[in-house]
Amino acid sequence: MSANTMDTCTNLIRNAKKIVVLTGAGISTESGIKDFRSKTGIYSLAPEYILSLDYFYQHPKEFYQFAIENLYHPEAVPNKGHEILAKWEQEGKVATIITQNIDGLHQRAGSKNVIEFHGTMKTATCLNCGKNYSTDEMLSRMETMEDFYICNNCIANNKVEQYIKPDVVLFGDTGTWFSMAGIQTILRYMQEADFVLVLGTSLLVTPFSTFPQYRRQGVPLIIINKGETPYDFGQDTYVIHESIGKTMEEIDNQLHP
Ligand code: OAD
Ligand code: ZN
Repeated sequence: MSANTMDTCTNLIRNAKKIVVLTGAGISTESGIKDFRSKTGIYSLAPEYILSLDYFYQHPKEFYQFAIENLYHPEAVPNKGHEILAKWEQEGKVATIITQNIDGLHQRAGSKNVIEFHGTMKTATCLNCGKNYSTDEMLSRMETMEDFYICNNCIANNKVEQYIKPDVVLFGDTGTWFSMAGIQTILRYMQEADFVLVLGTSLLVTPFSTFPQYRRQGVPLIIINKGETPYDFGQDTYVIHESIGKTMEEIDNQLHP
């Protein structure tokens, strides 16, 4: 990254009033949470298939075991990256954060306008009656019940419809925001952005990865990400291949000398 790129990004952020922020697992690694596609990421432990709806239906117990061990981090606390985004929202710069993360750390840092595009790991829902369970409740069910993943209301004949599924969007799945209406709203936000800031995502998973394409023509895209993304050489695009926490802190210090 040149000093020039950093200055350009700082100036864009200084004057911005409607930043749309797109985040991924890379913003939470500095809180001790593994990302997916880095060398030590979750997919170095298991194939992508383990986070699919099919796998969940076929192996609900193993799925829960994996999800609790690898996707549930109630002990994690927000880091500098989350905190600075929350501050920029308060300062009227950040309009919306659209995150693929299911860890709730943006909200815990104080951000208000957060779209959890891939859902949340905090809760789980019966696919039949819609009864909601907290993940802590699921944890204690796992310790005490054999068929812990089958809803109390719906106990009958062990059909997948009676399974209690974590409220995360799996491969082959949909969700509250991962819906026609949800995506239409998101694309409207993309159109309203005065620039788009991408933090900590490889931008490889659709449809999330397509969102930057919906910004208006000429609207800048800033990417702060250690690894490469398919957008790195796009038009009006500024790329910083560095730590998110360190880079955002530097920018924020420039904004508030
Ligand atoms: P990935 O693991 O694909 O990408 C995370 C990116 O963050 C990588 O490019 C890293 O280089 C970068 N990174 C990690 N730590 C960083 C740091 N401290 N500073 C800067 N960059 C850092 O994760 P996502 O793009 O979020 O979906 O993955 C997208 C989706 O794939 C996830 O939501 C999940 C997964 O399958 C589902 O499970 C449905
Ligand atoms: Zn039920």
